[in-house]
Amino acid sequence: MRNLIGIEDFSKEEIDELIEVSKDIMNNRAKYSEMCKGKILATLFFEPSTRTRLSFESAMLGLGGNVLGFSNANSSSTSKGESLADTITVVSGYSDIIAMRHPKDGAPLVASMKSKVPIINAGDGGHNHPTQTLLDLLTISKEKGHIDNLTVGMCGDLKYGRTVHSLVNALQMYENIKFVFISPNELKMPEYIKDTLESKNIEYLETNDLEESIPNLDVLYMTRIQRERFSDMSEYERLKDVYILDKAKLKNAKEDLSILHPLPRVNEISVDVDDDEKRAAYFRQAENGRYMRMAIILKLLKEESLKSNKKEENVAENNEAKCSNERCITMVERGIKYLVTKCSDGNVRCGYCENKI
Ligand code: CP
Repeated sequence: MRNLIGIEDFSKEEIDELIEVSKDIMNNRAKYSEMCKGKILATLFFEPSTRTRLSFESAMLGLGGNVLGFSNANSSSTSKGESLADTITVVSGYSDIIAMRHPKDGAPLVASMKSKVPIINAGDGGHNHPTQTLLDLLTISKEKGHIDNLTVGMCGDLKYGRTVHSLVNALQMYENIKFVFISPNELKMPEYIKDTLESKNIEYLETNDLEESIPNLDVLYMTRIQRERFSDMSEYERLKDVYILDKAKLKNAKEDLSILHPLPRVNEISVDVDDDEKRAAYFRQAENGRYMRMAIILKLLKEESLKSNKKEENVAENNEAKCSNERCITMVERGIKYLVTKCSDGNVRCGYCENKI
């Protein structure tokens, strides 16, 4: 089964092809309007969403297919204690493809092991959000005209920010990308992501100074400090407004800077930046999600019979390897097999959440 669990499930050639197909869909909507006639997308959202769920549903409807699903775990039998594995076993008998969001890291990998239909990760805890990354790459390609040779700043919650984790993994596939990670010390980019960059000699800088970093950037990817990921609310209150991008801070920015944000925003981009139409790309980015998700659905349905899922191929069962990450799906799912991944940096990591074992 061809699934999309992490961005590494697709090669650079496949990502570039998805970007081109998305652009073609934007310009030729009628050509695609019946391509999924008779197919059903299930959207299983165990966590809140506006853009991801609705753009997936809009995408399937735009391809002539149908949708079913839930937008809240409390309206599903999860609230009665049903396991994720049982939910997926059942729903994969009602649908042709499933897009799922879950609060636990690694949940889509568990789902892919049970499902009879392709699984798309629409966000798993603080881990990955690969379809967001694909629409981010589409946005960068449209805004800048290319993806290579860029200095990309990522600002805010880099520790729990699943969108930036997937985006760093994807941008590594492109030429001459430099990263600037802007965060408070408490919310720095995880070691496993930086280890990979170091093993590939990819340049990155860590700083907590947004204003000083802005003049060097071609792309600034702002993120929200995510209240829902903090166990200590006093820490959230202390950090929540640490970065606020406003018009004044853009004074020394490049004329062709692209400002991205996966949204929703709270205070981290002031509304006065919205008037900077050329540089403020975040609402165009959200709209691009509809077309990229059409391209993803088409690809996975077309390649349903292929056996190629790097996430599954790279992991091995090891029942001694219990993960200690409290956000990992292994903490809550019954009867789970423990999996490990041996990384190029020599570390052994949980096969679900990538936490060091
Ligand atoms: N960008 C994103 O994932 O937004 P939603 O949480 O609204 O889906």
